[in-house]
Amino acid sequence: FIRTLSSTAVRNAAIKHITIIGGGQMGAGIAQVAAATGHSVVLVDTSDDILKKSIKGIEGSLKRIVKKKFADKPEAGEEFVQKILKNVSTSTDAASVVPGTDLVLEAIVENLKVKQGLFGSLDKVAPEHTIFASNTSSLPIADIASSTARLDRFGGLHFFNPVPLMKLVEVIQTPMTSQATFDALHDFSKALGKHPVSCKDTPGFIVNRLLVPYMMEAIRLHEKGHGSKEDIDVAMKLGAGYPMGPFELLDYVGLDTAKFIIDGWHDMDPENPLFNPSPMLNKLVEEGKFGKKTGEGFYKYK
Ligand code: NAI
Repeated sequence: FIRTLSSTAVRNAAIKHITIIGGGQMGAGIAQVAAATGHSVVLVDTSDDILKKSIKGIEGSLKRIVKKKFADKPEAGEEFVQKILKNVSTSTDAASVVPGTDLVLEAIVENLKVKQGLFGSLDKVAPEHTIFASNTSSLPIADIASSTARLDRFGGLHFFNPVPLMKLVEVIQTPMTSQATFDALHDFSKALGKHPVSCKDTPGFIVNRLLVPYMMEAIRLHEKGHGSKEDIDVAMKLGAGYPMGPFELLDYVGLDTAKFIIDGWHDMDPENPLFNPSPMLNKLVEEGKFGKKTGEGFYKYK
């Protein structure tokens, strides 16, 4: 009993100080959740201006939560926000902060070479015990890890957008990821209040592997003239119980992102018809219509 207890304690103590690289949509969301669950977080990005925006975003998000939670006690709400914000510091120099960290979690631009360059340089300065993890949506974790000499302490932690609301985390194990590393990442996800699922290092992991071909198939159905995008969206909402139709979801995810993912998989496995590119998607991306974030994708936004 004592042995079990102490090994659990060691595992729970494993990840307390984390460095998150990339303070964009995902990195800031993960930082918020980690800080709110009592972890000390250093958020790293390329400039202080970006980091200021990240912290403002976190503060805004926390204030929205507080508005509901502390509706009749605004002072307690403000205290709650400030206490969480105290757990987050920022830096533009990853190499100088990783020596004090148990986990380096990367959420930077979706580019293999850039991710490899980052981890390769941090591998030299991070402590032995430090685990590295990537939040990549579409790149093989093993390819990113290959830039380091800590293949056993490297895994994937794939969060979902918006991070504070979405409960799922996919914990990805490459053939080289040790069981201790996997367990630590799994426990960390739970400590964040998330629901971890375990998956292997295959394209799209679980959610995107099913979701991206589904969205591409919806575009193909529309391209062939078999249904309007409005009807396809309504059909999937009312007939399959999905909260958003595939075109609404594509606009939310970003058409540039969807194209990037499907093109990457198509290059990897050109024979797989599920990974075929779509002329309609390519055209919209070419025109700069990326979805909600640019004001137009399959639909127009104000
Ligand atoms: P984003 O563009 O909002 O944020 C990326 C941030 O990384 C930017 O603030 C950028 O300045 C910073 N950055 C870029 N290179 C850097 C470097 N070398 N060092 C430090 N900071 C750097 O991107 P987003 O959406 O947050 O995605 C980040 C990662 O998370 C990508 O790998 C993406 O595939 C993955 N992801 C995205 C999801 C989404 O729905 N947006 C969902 C799950 C994973």
